[in-house]
Amino acid sequence: MRRVPVNVLLVNSSARAEASTSRQIVAKVGEQFAASGAQLVSRDLAHSLPHVNEAWVQSGFTDPNDWTDAMRDAAGVSSQIVDEVMAADVLVLGVPIYNFGVPAAFKAWVDQVCRAGRTFRYTENGPEGLLKGKRAIVVVSSGGVPIDSPVDFATPHVRQVLNFIGITDIQVIGADGQMTGEGKVEAALEQAAAVA
Ligand SMILES: Cc1cc2nc3c(=O)[nH]c(=O)nc-3n(C[C@H](O)[C@H](O)[C@H](O)COP(=O)(O)O)c2cc1C
Repeated sequence: MRRVPVNVLLVNSSARAEASTSRQIVAKVGEQFAASGAQLVSRDLAHSLPHVNEAWVQSGFTDPNDWTDAMRDAAGVSSQIVDEVMAADVLVLGVPIYNFGVPAAFKAWVDQVCRAGRTFRYTENGPEGLLKGKRAIVVVSSGGVPIDSPVDFATPHVRQVLNFIGITDIQVIGADGQMTGEGKVEAALEQAAAVA
C-alpha cells in the first residue's frame, strides 16, 4: 500500500511556457495531489541550473571543513536540489524529448541530484540508491518519437537514473507522437487525473 503523499515535487523542463503539453500534464497531476491535501513544491528548470564543474566534483572528495568558496557554492546548489528531492514523497517529472534524449536543462538537474553519500552510496556490491519509498510519475512528451522505441533515449534514461537513486515505483504518462497521432494529450490528461 502506498502512503498518502504529504509532499509532491513538480519538476518541469520544457523550454515552452503555456503551450507546453508536459507542463499541462504535470500541473494536472499536481492538482490531483493538492486536492488530496498534499503540499506542492515546484522546480522550473527553464531557469537552468549550473552544470557540475571541477569545484563540484572536488567537493565530493574534500572534507566540508576544508571546502573553498567555489566548492561551497557548487555543493550548495546541489544540496538545495537534493533537499527538495529528499523532502518529496512523490516526484512528478515533466520531460519532453529533445533530440532523442532529455532536455539539457533536465540533465543538469539529474547531475545535481545524483550525489554520492546523499542520494546514492558506493558499497562492496556496487552503488546503492538511498531514496527508498518514494514514487515517481514521469510525463514524457514528444513530437514523433514513440516512448520506449529504439530512438527514445529519454524515458529509459530517466528510469535508470531513478532506479540508481533508489526509486523503483515509477509511472510513465506518455504524450508522445503529438505530430503524428490523435488524442494522446487527452489520454495523458485522463491518466494524470487518475494518479492520486
Ligand atoms: C529542441 C527540440 C528538440 C526536439 N526533438 C525532438 C525529438 O528528437 N523527437 C521528437 O519526437 N520530438 C522532438 N521535439 C518535439 C517535442 O518533443 C514536442 O514538441 C513536445 O511536445 C515538447 O514538450 P512540451 O510540449 O512540453 O514543450 C523537439 C522539440 C524541441 C523544441
